[in-house]
Amino acid sequence: MDKILVFDYGSQYNELIVRRVRDLGVYSFIVSYDYDLDKLNKDEIKGIILSGGPSCVNDLDSPKLNPKIFEFNVPILGICYGMQLLAKYFGGEVKSNTFKEFGNTKIILNNDCSLFFGINNEVSVFMSHSDSVINLPNGFNILASSLDNKIEAFSNESSNIYGVQFHIEVNDTPTGKNIFSNFLFRICKVFKNWSMKNFIEEKIKEIKEFTKNEKVILGISGGVDSTVAALLIYKAIGNNLYPLFINHGLLRLNEEKDCLDRFKNKFNIKVHYVDKSKLFLDALKRVTNPEKKRKIIGKLFVDVFKEEAIKLNDVTILAQGTLYTDIVESGKGGNSKVIKSHHNVGGLPKELGFKLLEPLKDLYKDEVRELGKLLGLDKSFINRQPFPGPGLAIRIIGNITKKKIEILRKADFILNEEIKKANLDDKIWQYFAALTNLKSVGVMGDNRTYFYAIAIRAVSSIDGMTAKAYPIPYEVIEKISSRIVNEVPYVNRVLYDITSKPPSTIEFE
Ligand code: XMP
Repeated sequence: MDKILVFDYGSQYNELIVRRVRDLGVYSFIVSYDYDLDKLNKDEIKGIILSGGPSCVNDLDSPKLNPKIFEFNVPILGICYGMQLLAKYFGGEVKSNTFKEFGNTKIILNNDCSLFFGINNEVSVFMSHSDSVINLPNGFNILASSLDNKIEAFSNESSNIYGVQFHIEVNDTPTGKNIFSNFLFRICKVFKNWSMKNFIEEKIKEIKEFTKNEKVILGISGGVDSTVAALLIYKAIGNNLYPLFINHGLLRLNEEKDCLDRFKNKFNIKVHYVDKSKLFLDALKRVTNPEKKRKIIGKLFVDVFKEEAIKLNDVTILAQGTLYTDIVESGKGGNSKVIKSHHNVGGLPKELGFKLLEPLKDLYKDEVRELGKLLGLDKSFINRQPFPGPGLAIRIIGNITKKKIEILRKADFILNEEIKKANLDDKIWQYFAALTNLKSVGVMGDNRTYFYAIAIRAVSSIDGMTAKAYPIPYEVIEKISSRIVNEVPYVNRVLYDITSKPPSTIEFE
C-alpha cells in the first residue's frame, strides 16, 4: 500500500495532517522527527511531510532534519517549521522574529506549478508562526508571497521539494484540501488505496498470516473498539478467537449482561465470562493516584488473561482493540508527551508472555465506527458511548469504594436515560457522570447533609484527541440534576463540566 510518512516536529495540528491525507484515500502515519528510519519499509513510502512545530530552527537544541529522509527519494513537503528546516538545510536563511503571526492572511500564489494547480492566485490561508524564510536556498523558487512580499511557499521542482509557511491542514485554509490533493496525486503520484473495504481485506490477510493456526484471546468490554476488533478477528480466524469478558467490578449498570446478550444473540459468538471484581477492587483499595490506578488495572488485566488463557489451552496471542489515539496519547506515536497511560498501552507490563495483535492500532475512532458498519454493526451500537477500559475507576476521583461505585452507577444511569429521552444520544459524542471526591453541605428535608458532588461531562469530538463541552439544553440538565439528587443516595450536588480538551481531558483521571 502507498503510504505518506509525516514527521512530527511538535505542532498541535499534526494529527490533522494525517487525517487530511487519509480522507483523500491515502494511508498516512506519523513518527517522531528522530524516529529510526531503518524500521520502515521504504518501498511503501511515496511521500514525506515535515510538520510544523513550536521550535526555532536557529536554536542549537531545536529538532533537526534527518538527512536520511533524502535516501527515500520521494517528494517532500515542509509545513511551517518543516519549511524552515528545509530552507536552512539547503543553505537558505531563516529569521527569528519575536512577534507571532497568527490567523488568516491573504497571499498571492503561482498556480502555474504542480502544488497549487487549479487554485485561485489570491487566497486566504491560516498562519501560526514567528520565524520566516528570508532568503531562498540556491535552486529554489518562490511559489507564494504575502501582500508585503514575504516568502510564503517555495519549491525546488527538479528535486521534488516543497515548503509552505501556512497551515494547509486546518479548516481555516479553505484550499488546504486541494493543496494536499495536488501534493499526493500530482507530485507523489500515489494511488488512492486507503479505504475501509481494502483495510478489511488487508487486515484479514495479515491476521491470518500473523496467527497461523494459533489461538487468540481478546478482552471484550462491551464498547465499540473491542467489539469491532472481535468481529474483524473472528472473520479472519473464526473459533480460534476466544473473546473474554472480565468483570472488574468497575462497569456501568447492566453492562456485562447487555454485552454477553449482544454477542450471543446478534453475532452468535461465544464469549467467556469471568467475575474478578473482588480481585480488582481489593488491589485498588486506598489507591488515589490516577496513573497508579491505570497501571494496577492494566497489570491485573494481563494476569487474568494469562490465567484464563492457560485454562483455555494453547492461547499464545493477546489481541486488543487499541486505537491510534491510545498510542499517541500514551507517548508512543509521534512527538507527543505522555498524557495518560491508556490501560491497554502504558498499563501493559513489558514481560507480556503473549504475542500482541492490535488490528485497529492504525485507526482513529471515527474510522473504527465506519469499519464497524461494514462489519454489520447497527447504527445504534456504533454510536454507543465510548467506555474506557479502566471503567469507573477513572471516573471516581480519589480512592474507590463499593459505595462510590454504586453511587456513580446510579447517577450515570439516570444521565443516560435522560439524554436518550431528550433524543440527544446520537448528537453528543461522549457523555457520562463522574464522582468528584468533593463533599459539600446541603439540606434535605430539615436536615443538614454532607454528601458527594456528581459531575456531568458531555463533549463533542471527532476522534477524542480534542473535545468541546456539549451544551446540554438547560431544562435537560436541570432534570438530570434534580433526578440525581433525589434518586441517588449520598449525593446533594450536581456540577456541569464545561471545559474543553485541551486543557482538560475527557475523562477525569
Ligand atoms: P481522555 O480522557 O484521554 O479520553 O481525553 C479520550 C478518549 O479515550 C477514552 N479513554 C480510554 N479508553 N482506555 C480506553 O479504552 C483508557 O485507559 C482510556 N482513557 C481514556 C475516553 O473515554 C475518551 O473517549
